[in-house]
Amino acid sequence: MKIDIVSIFPQYFEVLDLSLIGKARQRELVSIDVHDLRSWTDDPHRSVDGPQAGGGPGMVMRPDVWGRALDTLVSSSPSPIIVIPTPTGRQFTQRDAESLARADHLIFACGRYEGIDQRVSEHYGTRVKVVEVSLGDYILNGGEVAAIAIIEALVRLIPGVVSNPESLSEESFCDTALLDYPAYTKPRVWKDREIPEVLRSGDHARITRWRREQQLRKTAQRAPHLLTGVHQVGTPAALSPADRDWLIRAGYLVRGSDIFTCELRAATPDDAGALHRVARETFPDACPPSLSTAEIDAFITAHLSVAAFERMLTDVRYRIWIASVESEIVGYVVAILDSRPTDDSEARNIRLRLAKDSRVAEISKCYLRAHYRGSGLAGALLRYSLGQLAALPTPVTLAWLGTNRSNVRAIRFYERVGWKVRGSREFLVGGQWQDDVLLTVNRLAKFPIDVAD
Ligand code: 6GU
Repeated sequence: MKIDIVSIFPQYFEVLDLSLIGKARQRELVSIDVHDLRSWTDDPHRSVDGPQAGGGPGMVMRPDVWGRALDTLVSSSPSPIIVIPTPTGRQFTQRDAESLARADHLIFACGRYEGIDQRVSEHYGTRVKVVEVSLGDYILNGGEVAAIAIIEALVRLIPGVVSNPESLSEESFCDTALLDYPAYTKPRVWKDREIPEVLRSGDHARITRWRREQQLRKTAQRAPHLLTGVHQVGTPAALSPADRDWLIRAGYLVRGSDIFTCELRAATPDDAGALHRVARETFPDACPPSLSTAEIDAFITAHLSVAAFERMLTDVRYRIWIASVESEIVGYVVAILDSRPTDDSEARNIRLRLAKDSRVAEISKCYLRAHYRGSGLAGALLRYSLGQLAALPTPVTLAWLGTNRSNVRAIRFYERVGWKVRGSREFLVGGQWQDDVLLTVNRLAKFPIDVAD
């Protein structure tokens, strides 16, 4: 790669002889030529600027001087890219560094004062690729320091410059697009601070998971745009279901281009009104099309009223866990302890075999407002609830639930989060016998109840 830099302060760029970039130049992986803009002036004062047209403070760099410089450099290669560092540019990101690192020829035009006459960028933009980039929302005295930062970011991505390519792909932004995890080295104890135990455990799966969680937490706190893709060129971080689950437990819900605070917790009697409202909104989605609105309403009145939730919340056989987003309840799980599927006035023709010696709970409902579906919240809430059941003084080991055979979305969801279809029954909703499928999940202790700090 060839890099030309034009500036009225060529000495700024002496730092490019040092360290990694200096070595890359010696090894001819990159050639860097620094040019004094004043060598393209043609007056005795070697002036490069003029007063602002239209009035106003400060001086503006002249297009004719810049034009002579850029004409010379642009014509020296087939496809140069002109980079103009300016606080009014688009925010420079790692994606830009990756893209510029693939170029054959870069020309950095470093402005001073109030910048370069606008026509320069416009004119060369019609002939070659021109990018105006900013480092961030603060003002430097000129483009020189920014150009050095940009050059450092891209030269290290040129193949061969960094000897261990793994150290490139492991770190912040590459691949994961998350902030890096914290790093430690000896001594083990320094000023009463110990290296985290997990890093000394030798358990590589645990270390990998811990580091990923540190990255998720730090990114959610300091650079949430990297999780959502907002204000970022390129794709947002790819979040696995386990990542989303962990983020939700840590209090962060990523939904599309938004990030919200969220919480999973046990419901209290005060939540009965809000639970009824979520139930009224979400229950109809789970009903088969043959049910009329009146029949659905009758079921809601009988089983999902405020009073019904109040009864459940004070009955030791029930457990209700809720998901809230920005402090508003948006979903819930109802579990009934020791409930086994039995023939009664509401269920018949039950086909399901459950191990006799297991302690069983029925998940009677897992509902989430439609707005939040696809964010991982329902799965996280359900896993959280199963973990809570497994953590009871007499742990629940097996959970089951019934859902209408026509509710394909729900069945797929349960299967995706680890449930298996094991049986069937008929179930009375609004005076009609409906076909339910019965699903189970066992070994509930595999669901963690807490996120590590
Ligand atoms: Cl690229 N140039 C200048 N002059 N100031 C800046 C900047 C660039 N990025 C942030 N501040």
